[in-house]
Amino acid sequence: MRVKFTDLNKLHQLIRDDLDRAISRVLECGRFIKGEEVRRFEEEFARFCQARYAIGCSSGTSALHTALWALGIGHGDEVLLPGHTFVATAEAILHTGATPVFVDIDEETYLIDPEKIESSITERTKAIIAVHLYGQPVDMDRLMYYARRHELWIIEDATQAAGAAYKGRSVGILGDVACFSFHPAKNLGALGDAGALVTNDTEIAEKSRRFVDHGRKEKYIHGFVGHNYRMDELQAAVLRVKLQHIKIWNEQRRSAVLRYKNALQDRPFLFGRLVLPKEYPGSFGVYCLFVVRTKERDRLQHYLQEYEIETGIHYPVPVHLQPAFKEITLPKGALPITEKIVKEIISLPLHPLITEEEILYVIDNIEKFFKNRSSR
Ligand SMILES: Cc1ncc(COP(=O)(O)O)c(C=O)c1O
Repeated sequence: MRVKFTDLNKLHQLIRDDLDRAISRVLECGRFIKGEEVRRFEEEFARFCQARYAIGCSSGTSALHTALWALGIGHGDEVLLPGHTFVATAEAILHTGATPVFVDIDEETYLIDPEKIESSITERTKAIIAVHLYGQPVDMDRLMYYARRHELWIIEDATQAAGAAYKGRSVGILGDVACFSFHPAKNLGALGDAGALVTNDTEIAEKSRRFVDHGRKEKYIHGFVGHNYRMDELQAAVLRVKLQHIKIWNEQRRSAVLRYKNALQDRPFLFGRLVLPKEYPGSFGVYCLFVVRTKERDRLQHYLQEYEIETGIHYPVPVHLQPAFKEITLPKGALPITEKIVKEIISLPLHPLITEEEILYVIDNIEKFFKNRSSR
């Protein structure tokens, strides 16, 4: 049996007629940027996040750059972020001229460890980026405690977390401004690149809206130098269709994870060999990715590949050890938990339509792998 890591074709077949209608609507209208689809998506997405404003962006990366800029972050400032994240979180900080300062993570959740924040704060620190990695909300109560104490902005990197919530409140409104990605592989994915910035703050919203559109307030008048970071009409039309299903798809992801967990619990042999991620109490994770850990990660991945089970590693090389970040790289060992877990994490197949049979096939093969290893 082949188990795909994700199955967008299967998902799109379910909503194919609605997608075709949405795409035709844009083609017939003939307006491809700055039209009704983006405007309506922004309204609908803001409502979905329980927020006042949403601004369509060209990607999650451009949303992050916009958010940092709108908060006035630039040269000489420092921004805290977790050591374990996708490179774009750090790139966005560097694009403003500020310096990324990496904070180590919590081993059980893979998320920024709020208790390690305070020792990284200096008089130049202006903000913390809370990355809800894999769709799991950060421990926001503890993070907010330190942010308030030191008067720091909070930016949520919610690029993997559309629909996630913390203590009944949607990600997107847990800090000052939040950024989403609709990269096709995300739990809410467009048919290309797209993103959004969400906030309850009118000034941040107004500045951001202009930044993504060349600093323009009205036609031909550019008050400051901005970017072309706009979402386009086709992506907005597609996202409007998918937004109607995201709650169910997120629930299906959570049910699939529960099935994985139950199947693993039935196999005591795997205890201690395969470590499952923890959710913070009161958090509602959406499992954009289902990431488990084992010391035998590379061998396990190879073994599963032989049985046509697709897996991923998100991410194998931490940002602070990437060659592109030479100016700010830290020595090896500077973030011990991050550096340990990147060698152990493996993302298992997960999407809303994964079947019970597929999940059992994955677990059976994981068990076989470990039994083979221990019998050697
Ligand atoms: C944690 C994180 N931050 C930022 C981004 C950037 O989003 P995008 O690919 O839409 O630019 C991603 C996307 O992969 C991500 O996973």
